[in-house]
Amino acid sequence: MTDVGVRAVDDTARWVAHQRAVESARPDALFHDRLAARLAGARGREIAARAAAEPASAGGDGWYLVARTVLLDRAVRDAVDAGVETVVNLGAGLDVRPYRLDLPAELEWIEVDLPALIAEKDAALAGETPRCRVRRVPLDLAAGRVTTVLDGLRGRRTLVLAEGLIMYLSPDEADALAADLLAAGVDRWCFDLSTAGVGSLVAERNRGLLRSAPWRFLPADGVAHFERRGWCAERIEPIFPAAVALGRLDTPDARRLAAAPQPDPRAPGDAPYSAVVTLTPAP
Ligand SMILES: C[S@@+](CC[C@H](N)C(=O)[O-])C[C@H]1O[C@@H](n2cnc3c(N)ncnc32)[C@H](O)[C@@H]1O
Repeated sequence: MTDVGVRAVDDTARWVAHQRAVESARPDALFHDRLAARLAGARGREIAARAAAEPASAGGDGWYLVARTVLLDRAVRDAVDAGVETVVNLGAGLDVRPYRLDLPAELEWIEVDLPALIAEKDAALAGETPRCRVRRVPLDLAAGRVTTVLDGLRGRRTLVLAEGLIMYLSPDEADALAADLLAAGVDRWCFDLSTAGVGSLVAERNRGLLRSAPWRFLPADGVAHFERRGWCAERIEPIFPAAVALGRLDTPDARRLAAAPQPDPRAPGDAPYSAVVTLTPAP
């Protein structure tokens, strides 16, 4: 195996796509992403293999990424059932939900990611037909303001996704994003949030595999970080017990830990806590 690391943050999209490909190939797959293997390519496969060999992954990152995908799929379906008209997927990477999920044809789906990744995805999916209206916007969320995307959406019921994104932002960038989404009047914001206790797990990775794209935003106050900034938590779904319930973590220790009381999402302390959260603007 080539000793590859993540060269830049967009490589993490290949890694995640590879995990979707692995899940999709299982006889009991929880979702089918027929494009994932092609989009992940050899690099996605190699990065995932190197990651799985590290102690931080506890034998693989698949359980985390599969459970996250399932939880966000549900959040999208629920939001669409509730009448959302536009989905904005920030840090969309090589995600293909508009091609994979049963979505209304009139739904507008906007994907935002770094320019090189967007160009690669446009080319790779040129021959594919999405289920809804898809548009891609090249934008560095660290440098460009997300308001350039949201400006035209005022008055439309909008769900914003940010799957596997905010840990790569600086704390200031994450807070600016939270403020911009609130000011833009989006209806819901759904993303995976990892808290400070995860920092000790990823510290070695941040120096090695992820040294070009370290995890930087891991708030100690978890969900409360956003509640202090004008958001309200509509749904908080811890990823670890979800992975156990879905059968993607199946050891006696994992089952015992999942059955035990989970950390407080607003004060998780040193616990390595991650959850998919859905926020709405506070009344
Ligand atoms: C772990 S991947 C997740 C991709 C996708 N959401 C998924 O779950 O498959 C992180 C994504 O965030 C994007 N990203 C990270 N920092 C970004 C930034 N400053 N601006 C735009 N996109 C960014 C990366 O390019 C990458 O595609």
